[in-house]
Amino acid sequence: MSADQVPKDAQFQKLVGYVVGNQAAWFIDIGLKTGLFRTVAGAGESGIREDALSEQLGYTLRYVQVWCRGAYAFELLDWDDSSGYRLAPHMESLLLDRSDPRWMGGRFPFYTALFEDFRAFPEYLRTSDIWPRSAHDAFLLEALANATKPDSVMITEQVLPQAPATLARLEAGAQILDIGAGGGHHVIHYARRFPNARVVGLESDPPSVELARRALAEANIDDRVEIRASDANDLEDEDAFDLVTLNIALHETGDHAHHVNVLNRVRRALKPNGTVVVSELPYPDSPQEYRQNPVFTMLAGIQLHEALVGCGMITQGELVDLLKDAQFADVRVAQQSVPTRFVMLGEKPR
Ligand SMILES: C[S@@+](CC[C@H](N)C(=O)[O-])C[C@H]1O[C@@H](n2cnc3c(N)ncnc32)[C@H](O)[C@@H]1O
Repeated sequence: MSADQVPKDAQFQKLVGYVVGNQAAWFIDIGLKTGLFRTVAGAGESGIREDALSEQLGYTLRYVQVWCRGAYAFELLDWDDSSGYRLAPHMESLLLDRSDPRWMGGRFPFYTALFEDFRAFPEYLRTSDIWPRSAHDAFLLEALANATKPDSVMITEQVLPQAPATLARLEAGAQILDIGAGGGHHVIHYARRFPNARVVGLESDPPSVELARRALAEANIDDRVEIRASDANDLEDEDAFDLVTLNIALHETGDHAHHVNVLNRVRRALKPNGTVVVSELPYPDSPQEYRQNPVFTMLAGIQLHEALVGCGMITQGELVDLLKDAQFADVRVAQQSVPTRFVMLGEKPR
């Protein structure tokens, strides 16, 4: 596009929009961490005034006013003269309801935690250095674990019904393997959701293994769940699992050859007719698509973090090919409501 096709004013407004989006993300982060959203939600439709909010939370009125007005400006809160502030439509479930698969409240602290990567990137441009995730500040690891938590509900409630035979086996009691188990949230969710099933979480990063084992102990989950400290590239099980899940994990297992290796091992580890669920970031296949969907545009930013921590990237088309090449049967895209995920299903042929 040439300069005479695009008004300068439109480009200026676009840049202003980026500043606003950045600020809105931080206002959301603050509102979540401080309980401001939760307290406004608690007031319901009657609304709450700035002074009552300040008193209820013990926060400085001047700062509460600044936050409320910004949150109103960013259309996170609504306001009227007679009742004060209330949450804007759907913000309660999107920001506060952990059981909603589109819960964004867990994701914002991750997006804001990325400021460290953006700040460091100019230095890394000159070197080929990797900044491993485990060397990042602990709050980024915690924020990342929270960002992926709603996926567990999406997988069990929206994706697995699309593999009804496997779902029935899970309800009756079956074996689940979660590869790249991270902090263990998903294995705990699976164990609770399928009280007759046995669950193995496989994780290669020692601090995450520790975190997952601690989470299991705290969750008081019985011996149906095990965290195995090993690399998915070395998976040796055969005909052992009814379901294998990889949530935002396959692209982290190495390069293309590693992805192929892991999926071949997953097929071997599944029982005949067992199901694999691979959930990935929905990277588009062509650069043009990055501008066609705001989620893809956002992923372009997330990719900077992924590159810095040494992760690869799997586009949607590549994931389809990977599963087909690994000789899964009935390879299909799962229908689900989380636009920041691309989820595929496949079965081990009999
Ligand atoms: C983005 S995290 C997702 C964690 C978890 N699945 C979730 O959704 O919360 C990816 C996880 O995969 C783990 N991982 C990466 N490569 C792995 C490998 N080769 N074998 C096992 N785990 C691996 C990482 O250590 C990390 O904990």
